[in-house]
Amino acid sequence: MDKVSIAIDGPAGAGKSTIAKKIAEAKKILYIDTGAMYRAITLKLLNNNVSLKNNEVILETLESTGIEFKEGSIYLDGINVDQEIRRPEINKNVSEVAAIPCVRKVLVNIQRKIAENNSVIMDGRDIGTRVLPFAKYKFFLTASVDERAKRRYIELKKNGYEQSYEEVAEEISKRDKMDTERKLDPLRKAEDAILVDTTGKTIDEVIDTIIEKIDTI
Ligand code: CDP
Repeated sequence: MDKVSIAIDGPAGAGKSTIAKKIAEAKKILYIDTGAMYRAITLKLLNNNVSLKNNEVILETLESTGIEFKEGSIYLDGINVDQEIRRPEINKNVSEVAAIPCVRKVLVNIQRKIAENNSVIMDGRDIGTRVLPFAKYKFFLTASVDERAKRRYIELKKNGYEQSYEEVAEEISKRDKMDTERKLDPLRKAEDAILVDTTGKTIDEVIDTIIEKIDTI
């Protein structure tokens, strides 16, 4: 059978990963969180004290780094980094790392290879526009900044990170701006993506909306 791709893009806190994970389970396809890959590279660069201006060392680091997904977890050089990549310090730096051309080139290639070999639901910022422009199904999830910041604040608190709501909201707005304004593959809705505003909607309501559209799988 041909491989099917579903692209889910949108800003931080729109609910992409929660929803994509559940749809992957329901449809028995692979879920790939591309943001986790950018986060993992950010973690490695920070751990190794690599300057984000030093392209040569960044490229060397990329070449010697292993990023893998196994049973829903992400492994950086063989170590599970599910928790570590959600640290506030990573939130603060990831958009700068994601704007570096060689980082995008390497990660986009890995993402495309995964989709060539598997039916996938992939979430990120540029899946419908750049990584999988021919995806059969494309969705763009949004929600108000206030609601997205509230969701992220609750999530961080649950994981033991103490950040004020204001700090979280500011960080999310900053990241939205960087992701939308960057030159290379900025965050934007693909022309053929279906827009889903998740403000005030439960996870199940959003999942139902999406499942309805992809019922042919
Ligand atoms: O989970 P959250 O929505 O906060 O973000 P994420 O999906 O984990 O992505 C973290 C960051 O990685 C984003 O703010 C982007 O800067 C970058 N990213 C990207 O540039 N392209 C992607 N396909 C996915 C993430």
